[in-house]
Amino acid sequence: MTTTPPVPGTSPAPTDRPLAAVILAAGEGTRMKSRRVKVLHEAAGRPLVEHVVRAAAATGASPIVIVVGVQAAAVQERLLASLAASGDAAIAARLRFAEQPERRGTADAVARARGELAGFGGDLLVLCGDVPALPAEALSRLLEEHRAARAALTVLSAELPDPGGYGRIVRDARGTFQAIVEQRDATPEQRAVREINTGTYAADWPLLDKAIDRITPDNAQGEYYLTDAVRLLLGDGERSIAVVHGQAEEALGVNSRRQLADVHRALARRAAERLMDAGVTVLDPDSTWIDATVVAGPDTVIHPGVTLEGRTTIGAGCVIRAGARLTDVVVGDGATILDYTIAAASTIGPDCQVGPFAHLRPGTVLSDHCKVGNFVETKKTKLGPGSKASHLSYLGDATIGTGVNVGAGTITCNYDGTHKHPTVLEDGVFIGSDTQLVAPVTVGKGAYVGAGTTVTKDVPAGALAISRTEQRNIEGWVERRVKK
Ligand code: UD1
Ligand code: CA
Repeated sequence: MTTTPPVPGTSPAPTDRPLAAVILAAGEGTRMKSRRVKVLHEAAGRPLVEHVVRAAAATGASPIVIVVGVQAAAVQERLLASLAASGDAAIAARLRFAEQPERRGTADAVARARGELAGFGGDLLVLCGDVPALPAEALSRLLEEHRAARAALTVLSAELPDPGGYGRIVRDARGTFQAIVEQRDATPEQRAVREINTGTYAADWPLLDKAIDRITPDNAQGEYYLTDAVRLLLGDGERSIAVVHGQAEEALGVNSRRQLADVHRALARRAAERLMDAGVTVLDPDSTWIDATVVAGPDTVIHPGVTLEGRTTIGAGCVIRAGARLTDVVVGDGATILDYTIAAASTIGPDCQVGPFAHLRPGTVLSDHCKVGNFVETKKTKLGPGSKASHLSYLGDATIGTGVNVGAGTITCNYDGTHKHPTVLEDGVFIGSDTQLVAPVTVGKGAYVGAGTTVTKDVPAGALAISRTEQRNIEGWVERRVKK
C-alpha cells in the first residue's frame, strides 16, 4: 500500500471511532455454473463468505451486515451453523442480515444495510462476499490509511497486468485520485489504466450514507454504482483516496471455478506458512489444510494431504503422516500419527503412536506411550500409559489402565440396543485376540482373557477367563466329502 503524507497542522487521526462492516453478497455468480449461490462455494474448508466474515470480525467491526439476495436463507443458515460448529458464537452475535430483493448495483446493495446501521456514526468497511483471501491485516491497514488521511472514502486498489472488466482508478497528472470509471463507461485512454478498484473500501459512514442518496443509474448498465460516491464526495470538498494493495491476487474476487481453485491454494499456503514460521516442517503446503486456529510446536513434521481443523493443538517433535485429519485434537510432544488417521475431540498423549487408518471418535483420551494401530476405532475411551490396541478393534465407553494389551479383533459390546454400558480393564490386563467384552464388565488387575473369549461376567484380578467350545478334529473328513 502507498502511504498518504500526513496533512500538516492537523491533530492526530482518530483511531478509536466505532467500526462496522458491510459484506455485499447478493450476487448470483452465474459464471460458477452452479445451483449453489457463489458465496457458499467453499475454499479451504469454508464458504467464501465465511472467510470474509472472519476477516471483518478480526478487525473488531460490529455489527457485520451481510447483504443477501439470491438464496438469502441458505447463506444465513450456513453461516450461522458454521460459526456455531466452530464455537464462534461471539462472531455470530455480531452478524446482521439485510436483503437486497433486486440486483440494482453496489450502491443499492450498501443502501440495503441502512436499517441495520441506523444511528451508527463511525467508520464502515465495505467488503465483497466473494473476496475470501484478503487477510484481516490488509483491512486494518486500509482502515489506518483511511483514518490517517481523514478521508470520507478510501478505495483499496490493485495493479493488474490485465485490468479487463474492472473499474479503473482515474488519477490526474499529479496522481491525485479523481474517480472510478467502470470498464463499460470508460474511454479507450481510461481502459489502458492498470490500477483497478478491488471493490473493498473504508468509509466514513454518515458521509457515504448521504452520498449514496445522490447516486443515479445513468450509466451503461443502468445500475446504482457505489463507485460514483467518489466523485460526489470529492465534489463536496471531502477527501477520497485510493491505496494500492501490493498483493493484488489477494484482493480479487472469485468468479469462476478456476479462480476458486486458485484461492483455495492461496489460503492453504497462507495457513501452512504461519506454522512454518513457528518452526514446523510442512512438506507440501499446497496439499495441506490447516485452520487459522491450529497451533503446532517446533520440529513437528506435517506430511502431504493432512487436514488440521478447529482447536487442534500439536506439540513439538511430532510426525503427522499423509492424509490424517485431526479436528479439535490435542497431541502431546513426540507423538506419531500415521497415515489416514481420523480423530475428533480427542487427546493423544506424548510419544503415542496412532494409525495408520485409526479412527479416534470424540472423548478418546490416550495418555503417554500408547499405541492405537490400524483399523482400531475408539469412542469415549481412556487408555492409560503404555497401553496398546494394535489391530482391528472397537473400544467404546472403556476405561483402560496402565500397560494393558488389547489383542487383535477385540470388541467392546457396549450397546444393548437401548443403553450404552462401560467396560473397565484394570492395570496390566492382557486381552487375547478376538475377545468380546459384553458390557458392563470389569477385568481386574493383571487378569488374562484367552483368545476367542466372550466375557459376560467380571474377571477377578489375577484370573484367566476363557470361554471356548472344545475343538474336535474329524479325521479324513475332507477326503470323504470329495468322494461324494
Ligand atoms: C464492482 C465495482 C468495480 C470493481 C469490481 C471489483 C461497482 C459499480 N463496480 O464491479 O469498480 O472493479 O467490483 O470486483 O461497484 N453486489 C450486490 N448487489 C448488487 C451488485 C453487486 O450484492 O446489486 C455484490 C456482488 O455479489 C459482489 C460485489 O457486490 O460481491 C461486487 O459486484 P460485482 O458484480 O462482482 O462487481 P461489479 O459491480 O461488476
Ligand atoms: Ca466481480
